[in-house]
Amino acid sequence: GTVGLPDQLGRVARDLRVSVTDRCNLRCRYCMPAEGLPWLAKPEMMTDDELVRVIGIFVGLGVQQIRLTGGEPLLRRSLVDVVRRVSELEPRPRIAMTTNGIGLDRLAQPLADAGLDRVNVSLDTIDPQEFADLTRRDRLHDVELGLKAAAAAGLTPVKVNAVAMRGINDHSVADLLQWCLDRDYELRFIEQMPLDAQHGWDASTMIGADEIRERLSERFELTPLPAAERGSAPAELFLVNGGPTTVGIIASVSAPFCAACDRTRLTADGQVRNCLFSQKETDLLGPLRAGASDEELAALVQGEMWRKLPGHGIGSADFVQPDRPMSAIGG
Ligand code: GTP
Ligand code: 5AD
Ligand code: SF4
Repeated sequence: GTVGLPDQLGRVARDLRVSVTDRCNLRCRYCMPAEGLPWLAKPEMMTDDELVRVIGIFVGLGVQQIRLTGGEPLLRRSLVDVVRRVSELEPRPRIAMTTNGIGLDRLAQPLADAGLDRVNVSLDTIDPQEFADLTRRDRLHDVELGLKAAAAAGLTPVKVNAVAMRGINDHSVADLLQWCLDRDYELRFIEQMPLDAQHGWDASTMIGADEIRERLSERFELTPLPAAERGSAPAELFLVNGGPTTVGIIASVSAPFCAACDRTRLTADGQVRNCLFSQKETDLLGPLRAGASDEELAALVQGEMWRKLPGHGIGSADFVQPDRPMSAIGG
């Protein structure tokens, strides 16, 4: 049979993003409505044993990095244990996490001890009022403590992800960059994508990569790094004031990186997705609970990846936003 996780276009998946829970303790406007979402019920979610077994199958198929995401991954009570078990897989994958940082204060060191290698923390502004407006929660201080703890625990390089929204935090992006420079966090701005549960995304209000770059250039000198230093990573990188620190811009919408995509995804309820924007998923949990072997599950994963489309098509006339929001797919 096939080896690894190729698709019909020659791309190979080596990076698995796992949503370990769809729940979250923030309500970011680009993601969720104020009232939250109907969360998955416990029986629909993979248990730790199921999760670790499925991740092991992906590792057997050539996946080299596991990124734990959510919802908010720190809300899964067993997370430290999951990390430890994933770090015991052979060959040991690199383990990263994307989190909003709340609770990282307490969990950074235990996670690092269990085998977590690095973290990306979502933080869109360092203005408390803007933070509360954008996330609908007054938790900026918790995120700051979480970032500090991550750096102290050696979960480095600590990256910060920011989405700029017009009229909320678009005028403070340079303040955020200065704040990250002062603390040695690698900041990346992300273009807002149509993945919100409310389906309120609008191309005309999205702050594009060019606009971010212009706003930062008012206060910093930005020098683009050669594309070769970027690899399959989604961010275009710029040296800030001659370096060595960089700032990244992830132009997911205006300059998609789909042609170099090496990602695959697993949801908390055991569905494989070949793309953030897939219309279909492949169920692994049903077959697993019905007694499927590792080989049978691996073949299902390979089938899903083989069907991966060339790109997301945002902006084209036939683009349809996926049914599941970002918080359920895994960011
Ligand atoms: P690094 O390994 O640290 O570069 O991680 P990363 O940037 O892949 O991970 P992170 O979870 O921090 O993702 C940053 C942002 O990139 C996400 O919020 C998304 O906006 C975007 N992104 C991640 N994966 C995909 C993807 O498969 N497709 C698209 N279009 N955007 C993605
Ligand atoms: N568009 C772009 N980025 C988003 N994120 C969440 N929703 C969106 C969206 N609609 C970001 C989070 C986090 C990462 C996983 O994705 O802020 O940094
Ligand atoms: Fe939670 Fe992340 Fe969605 Fe914000 S973007 S509500 S932190 S899942």
